Amino acid sequence: MRVVVLVSGRGSNLQALIETVHGHEAEIVGVASDRAGAPALERAAAAGIPTAVFLRDDYEDRTGRDLAMADWVLARGADLVVLAGYMALLAPAFVTRFPDRIVNVHPSLLPAFTGIDAIQQAIDHGVKVVGVTVHLVDEGIDTGAILLQRAIPMPNTRDGAEVHAALQPLEHELLPEAVRLLAAGRVRRDPADPQRVVVST
Ligand code: GRF
Repeated sequence: MRVVVLVSGRGSNLQALIETVHGHEAEIVGVASDRAGAPALERAAAAGIPTAVFLRDDYEDRTGRDLAMADWVLARGADLVVLAGYMALLAPAFVTRFPDRIVNVHPSLLPAFTGIDAIQQAIDHGVKVVGVTVHLVDEGIDTGAILLQRAIPMPNTRDGAEVHAALQPLEHELLPEAVRLLAAGRVRRDPADPQRVVVST
């Protein structure tokens, strides 16, 4: 499976993909960012993966930027788009070009706490369990069908950095696992309930 990864920041999830599935179950054929100078781009370059930057200001609007990015993804021959800390909302025109072919990792147990600051939202709500979700991307904000989730009890925490540090190892396991499942063709929509995804064993 040929994969393009979209990033905005640090790129620890990209690094996890490079160290696990890349060159095995999947080939990362490109990394694109909406921010110049994202450290994730250096990680890609160090692994010999082609990179590109698509700045919002270089295009008339967000859709224009995202369509240019979609063209780049298709030109790389990608079958799958992985959002690994990509912090911009994708235009519907991008999402509809890759139906059920975009996955995202989100630091909450969806459908709770969508959007930005998910960890702080969870802390503010007083949750006793935190977790990570990998889901397919649709046109909503963190609303697509859930592929994988994992939780850990943290009943007393009020420290976002502590929660983030606890969640990152889960992200670094679940996102490569989702790519493996998709590459193996083990993910399909439930015909009786298309919002639901069935992962076969
Ligand atoms: C992760 O916590 C992920 O859940 C969120 O953005 C963060 C990206 O981290 N969507 P990194 O850039 O992969 O280190």
